[in-house]
Amino acid sequence: MPSTRRPVPGEKGPHYVYERLAVERSIAALGQALPDFVLLYSMKANPFRPMLELMRGRGLGIDAASAGEVQLALDVGFAPTDIFFSCPGKTEEDLAFALGSATVVADSLGELERLDRIAGQLGRHAGIGLRINPDASLGPQQDARLAEQGKPSKFGIDEELVLARLGAMKALQHVRIEGIHVYLRSQIASAEAICQVTARCVRLARTLEQGLDSRLSWVNVGGGFASALGAGQPSLDLELLRRGMAGLPGQLPRLRFMAEAGRFLAAGAGTFWTPIVDIKDSRGVRFYVTAGGLDGMLRPALALLLARMAHGAQAWPLEPLYSSAECHAICVVRADGTPAAGETEIVTVAGPLCTALDVLAEDIRLPKAKIGDWIVVSNAGAYCATLSPAGFASRPRPREYLI
Ligand SMILES: Cc1ncc(COP(=O)(O)O)c(C=O)c1O
Repeated sequence: MPSTRRPVPGEKGPHYVYERLAVERSIAALGQALPDFVLLYSMKANPFRPMLELMRGRGLGIDAASAGEVQLALDVGFAPTDIFFSCPGKTEEDLAFALGSATVVADSLGELERLDRIAGQLGRHAGIGLRINPDASLGPQQDARLAEQGKPSKFGIDEELVLARLGAMKALQHVRIEGIHVYLRSQIASAEAICQVTARCVRLARTLEQGLDSRLSWVNVGGGFASALGAGQPSLDLELLRRGMAGLPGQLPRLRFMAEAGRFLAAGAGTFWTPIVDIKDSRGVRFYVTAGGLDGMLRPALALLLARMAHGAQAWPLEPLYSSAECHAICVVRADGTPAAGETEIVTVAGPLCTALDVLAEDIRLPKAKIGDWIVVSNAGAYCATLSPAGFASRPRPREYLI
């Protein structure tokens, strides 16, 4: 949990608190592990404007996953050259808008053709990137799930397709391929696996330069840097990462190497606060009913749902909606801001919505609370405010604060 476990003065309702210092510490830690890389912030993790401003102030670029995110990044003052727009399913309007506002990363061969046509219609000549779905040979023993990348994916262009279409790519009239983007998955805790992916990117970039007979200018090796979410979860060894990555960008010294991270930078810096508005007993169960539930903070409810469906087995992570059953710790803070202590009881913490799924924690031991105390949920800085179905039952969206 961040050290600042105090309610925001004057705040009475469900809200998020993001701790600036914690974010800055994470940026510094990742920066030290990757001194030869430009870091991009994956803003889908948490697009709260002050958070974006913080990232800009610390010199990060932006990994944008929609035209809306490109626009938000521009609004915050990121330069188009520091915004990389990568996602499947971009519309023609998205492409036309982004060609002048960011570096567009093509996600399919069809999109590549559309980009070329649209750039021509707009009278532009644009540098773009290719998102590549690498082949199965990447899967290191330590992380068998990486081997899945050789399977069909809606993300990126299969490596073998890229290599088979080099001729057509060379013939593009209005766009030129300047970089490659590879992203395997989130929450990779093996530094060795990340280094292997990066080494693969270096080889791919070389192959592409030879095949296209032109120079690239950047390589985005993705990331997937695991944030230690909850007790017992593996955490990324940053020193091992630093050592493993150290020689790789130097193999292509002309190129700008980039890596992108969302959760690693923001998740642990955030907490979700929601006041207890009722306490009731029902057939032997004590409920703490909170003002905000899954409409403001969805992930704990999803974790409970998956645990129920897994019938005692460990549910498979499903990022970014579900990381692990232990991901979000819950505590009670008194209305005056002091952490609750003393006598405890087993309770279920439930939100106000008209669904039995609206539960923050089930059968959890907490210090005895009173109406007006706060339930505080940890690891709420990434994929929480932005992924929750705010608007359900026309309830107010939780406010957010960067302190
Ligand atoms: C292409 C891409 N880049 C970056 C991210 C950010 O991942 P994380 O927040 O785990 O760093 C994601 C997450 O889904 C992604 O799909």
